[in-house]
Amino acid sequence: MKIEIIGFPMFYGCDRPGVEFGPDKLREVGLVDLFKKNNEYVIDRGNIEVDQVDPSKKYASHTSMKYLTEVVSGNERLAETVQNAIQEGNLPFVVGGDHSLGLGSLAGVKSATEEDFAVIWIDAHADLNITETSPSGNIHGMPLGASAGLGDELLTELYVKGQKVKPENIYILGLRSVDEGEEVIIKEHGIHTWRMTDIRERGMEKAIQELLHKISESGIQHIHLSYDIDSLDARHVPGTGTPVEDGLEFEESKQLVSSIIGTGLVKSIDFVEFNPITDRNNLTLNSSVSMLETFSEALGRINS
Ligand code: ARG
Ligand code: MN
Ligand code: MN
Ligand code: MN
Repeated sequence: MKIEIIGFPMFYGCDRPGVEFGPDKLREVGLVDLFKKNNEYVIDRGNIEVDQVDPSKKYASHTSMKYLTEVVSGNERLAETVQNAIQEGNLPFVVGGDHSLGLGSLAGVKSATEEDFAVIWIDAHADLNITETSPSGNIHGMPLGASAGLGDELLTELYVKGQKVKPENIYILGLRSVDEGEEVIIKEHGIHTWRMTDIRERGMEKAIQELLHKISESGIQHIHLSYDIDSLDARHVPGTGTPVEDGLEFEESKQLVSSIIGTGLVKSIDFVEFNPITDRNNLTLNSSVSMLETFSEALGRINS
C-alpha cells in the first residue's frame, strides 16, 4: 500500500493562525523520509489549495460558523484528493492544519468506500458540535458531528450529500473537554467513548481491547483514524490551538496508535492541530515527530 501525504494548510477552522504552517514545517524536518524509513512507497501530494480571505470577513456567510466559505471550498478539494487516493488503493495521510479537515477526509472516504466504515477519533475534544451547540463558532469543533449527518446542511452536504459515517461506527478516545451540547449528542446517538477518566481507571490496555473487540464485532473493514495532537497532555503540546491538561502520555498514545494500525484495517489517516508558531522550544514539533515515527513504524509492519 502506497502512502500519500496530503498537506492541508488551513487555520480557518480554529480561527488561530499558525496551524496552517504545520504541513510545511513537518516536511522541513523530514516528514517524507520519516515515512520512507519504514515504508517502500511514499508520495508527497503537496498541499491542497486553501482560498484566502481577510479575517475581517470571517462572518461573511451570515452564520455563526466562522470562515464557512473557505472551510467548505478547501475541504471539497481535500475530499476529491482523498477519494482518488483510496480508489487507487493508496493510503491518504492528511496532515493539518486544523481539525476541520475531518470534513473533507471523511467525505472522501465515504465517496471511495461502498461499505460502512468506522472512525476512530483520538482527541481531547469530541468535535461533535453543531451551530447551535458550538461555544466558539469554530468549525474544527464540528467535523465529526457534521460527518455523522448532524446539524447544518451547509456542512453535512459537503462533497457528497448526507451522512458520511453512522454514529454507531464512531469511537472517540482521550476525551476530557466536552461541551454540554456534545454530551447530549454522545448520549442520544450512542457514540462510543473512552474518556481520560475511563483510561485512568481501567488502563489503556483495557481500552484498546474493548475498542478492537467492538470494531471486530461490527464487521467493519475500513477504519479512518483521525489523530488530534491535543489528545496528548497539554505539557507535551503547547503548540496547539486548544491544549487540555490530564491527557495521554506518549507511551499510551503510541500503544493506542500501533494497536489500531496493527489491525490492518486502517485505510486513511489524519494528523492535525500542530501549530509551529505558538510552539515553545520545539516541544510540539518534537512530540509530533515522535508520534509520526510511531505511525510510520506501525504502517511499515503491516505493509511488509
Ligand atoms: N469544543 C470546542 C469548540 O467547539 C473546542 C474544539 C476544539 N477542537 C479541536 N479540533 N481542537 O469550540
Ligand atoms: Mn479535534
Ligand atoms: Mn482537540
Ligand atoms: Mn497533568
